[in-house]
Amino acid sequence: MTRIHLRINGREQSGDAEPRTHLADFLREEMNLTGTHLGCEHGVCGACTILIDGRPARSCITMTAACQDADIRTIEGYLDDPVMAALRASFKKHHALQCGFCTPGMLATAFDIVTRLPDADEARIREELAGNLCRCTGYAGIVAAIKAVLSEGVPAPAIRPIKRVALAASAEASPAIATSSAPPTGAVEPTASLEGGVTLSRNVAIAVSADHLWRELKDIQRVAAALPGAAIDTVTPDGHVKGSFTVAIGPMRASFGGNAHVIYDDASRSGLVRGSGGDRLSRSMAAGEVRFAVTPAGAGHAMLAAEIVYRLSGPLAQFGRGAVVADIVDRLLQQFTANIATLAQGGAVSEKPQGGFGLFAAAILSMLRRLLRRGQRRDQR
Ligand code: FES
Ligand code: FES
Repeated sequence: MTRIHLRINGREQSGDAEPRTHLADFLREEMNLTGTHLGCEHGVCGACTILIDGRPARSCITMTAACQDADIRTIEGYLDDPVMAALRASFKKHHALQCGFCTPGMLATAFDIVTRLPDADEARIREELAGNLCRCTGYAGIVAAIKAVLSEGVPAPAIRPIKRVALAASAEASPAIATSSAPPTGAVEPTASLEGGVTLSRNVAIAVSADHLWRELKDIQRVAAALPGAAIDTVTPDGHVKGSFTVAIGPMRASFGGNAHVIYDDASRSGLVRGSGGDRLSRSMAAGEVRFAVTPAGAGHAMLAAEIVYRLSGPLAQFGRGAVVADIVDRLLQQFTANIATLAQGGAVSEKPQGGFGLFAAAILSMLRRLLRRGQRRDQR
């Protein structure tokens, strides 16, 4: 048993959980919060969706032990909230529920949509709702209810503002990219919206010259080889790439097939990759942008700065804690920069990309280590 401390619906709560206990069971059985429904228990239907640290997440595939000190909002936690009051009234008016089994999860996702995307149109609402299944209504009423709340003006939420994911790595300075060294983006066709996306950055010093490292980065095939899970089908001379990217997050495995465009600016030794794609099996979409820049770092060294902005939508986006997904992407970025360093120094990187479960386990471990350190610091005080 692990002693778990959570902030549930604004109140500090503690309880004991086995390592295998998922959060939905913990909430329902230990906290008597039975408004969180369980449908598939496989992360597919969205019935168990709640807000964890301000993000919609599937509590049936979120381990309670990975949520130490997290901020949890279940359907019971909006009683005095004017946004949820407007959504409830609108769901009733537009016949957005019948049996009501999916409704707690639908309302959690709807709350996220109206507070995060005040300008969402019907297509965006449907995209954001893609991870919540309803067997009764046919969705028309649900979409109409959310549209009505958006068009009537969303009131200010009474619950505390959404806390966004903040990883230590994100706070790293990225001077080469923060300056105007990144290439102009006008030459690249627009990709899917990255609004509400997560940004992560990494800098790594490599013992080769800046020119050498830049030549390495201009070989798209080698760059793809450095990114675990990436595979290229075709590359055109003007940098249009067709390929796929495979990632496994916990029990979900997705292979995103799509297109990307790579542009390089030799003058500033910086580049930009923009791409988007979808995974048919999990019905998830991903869009992302990677900016990178190379600067001399003295004594035969070059600094590689890389920044990634990504946005996932569909079921994969709602897997577990948003922080776990961000941590996995941060690990991919870390491996990518390390592999580029290895290739630039004449080494070889593993042809077989590191398995997604390895990344998942490493992300959970690092999160637990951070929590342990935080606990030790608290005990020392
Ligand atoms: S119960 Fe279906 S996603 Fe959690
Ligand atoms: S209202 Fe019955 S499943 Fe949605």
